[in-house]
Amino acid sequence: MKLANAFGLWTELNFALQAALIPTLKDVWRKPTIISHLSRTFMAHVWIAFASQVDANARTVKRELFLPNATGVVLDIGAGLGHGIQYLDGSKVTKYVAVEPNVRMHPELRRAAAAAGYLESDGTLIILSCGAEEVATILESLDSTIPAVDTITSVMSMCSIPSAEEALRGLVSRILKPGGQLLFYEHVLSPRKDVAWWQRLWAPLWQIFYDGCRLDCPTDVWIDEITDVDEHGEKLSVWSERKLWGVPGETEETVFHHVLGKFVKRGGKMLD
Ligand SMILES: C[S@@+](CC[C@H](N)C(=O)[O-])C[C@H]1O[C@@H](n2cnc3c(N)ncnc32)[C@H](O)[C@@H]1O
Repeated sequence: MKLANAFGLWTELNFALQAALIPTLKDVWRKPTIISHLSRTFMAHVWIAFASQVDANARTVKRELFLPNATGVVLDIGAGLGHGIQYLDGSKVTKYVAVEPNVRMHPELRRAAAAAGYLESDGTLIILSCGAEEVATILESLDSTIPAVDTITSVMSMCSIPSAEEALRGLVSRILKPGGQLLFYEHVLSPRKDVAWWQRLWAPLWQIFYDGCRLDCPTDVWIDEITDVDEHGEKLSVWSERKLWGVPGETEETVFHHVLGKFVKRGGKMLD
């Protein structure tokens, strides 16, 4: 991997510091107790500054993935400022459930949802301040004991879930309905060994600034490998359909190796 590509991330970190350091310090000055979740405050300022540009960079692939596929009750992992809402077809998506632990993003998220017609007052919008790993809390807030979500979406958020492999298994088995879809656009561990080496090197530093975001998660592999147990006790894939593809034109030499995924859960009852 060329050093210029390996260190491109350093430039990004510099931009982030320029945009978010002073506002974060001002927040700490106003409310010193937030020092205990400094990274989350910093991330909120970074995202307020850069989310629109980051979103615009991948608009075409996200539109192609989410618009025709997301239906029914949609649960958006790490909804951020609500940029994902523009990729939902209002005539097919009946309820938008946003899982967003960074409450600083909630006002803008709520505004974006309202502009698209999703409101807490009529039950078409639920904003949860828990993490996606808190599967029981999510299920409770859906007023359900059985899988109640038709589509789970995620855009660059699975990388921030603690113990993401286990959390994703929980979300798929307990929250996603049989026949439901998991749609995602994520940066993941590169299949190239040299790139993966740099991702692992940068990951601990990146995580400090970006609220736990790991550059070295093989999220696509974890999802692909989720299993179920059939009526004979045999393990088998939980998916009836699985499709993974890359972003056209993206260089292989990037620590932000993106993948898109469309996975459909098998029908019937899950035993595992
Ligand atoms: C890179 S941003 C992406 C936001 C949004 N999906 C978008 O495309 O604009 C990652 C988001 O994941 C959220 N996040 C962090 N930890 C999380 C967790 N444990 N569960 C769910 N979301 C989390 C962050 O607060 C942040 O909003």
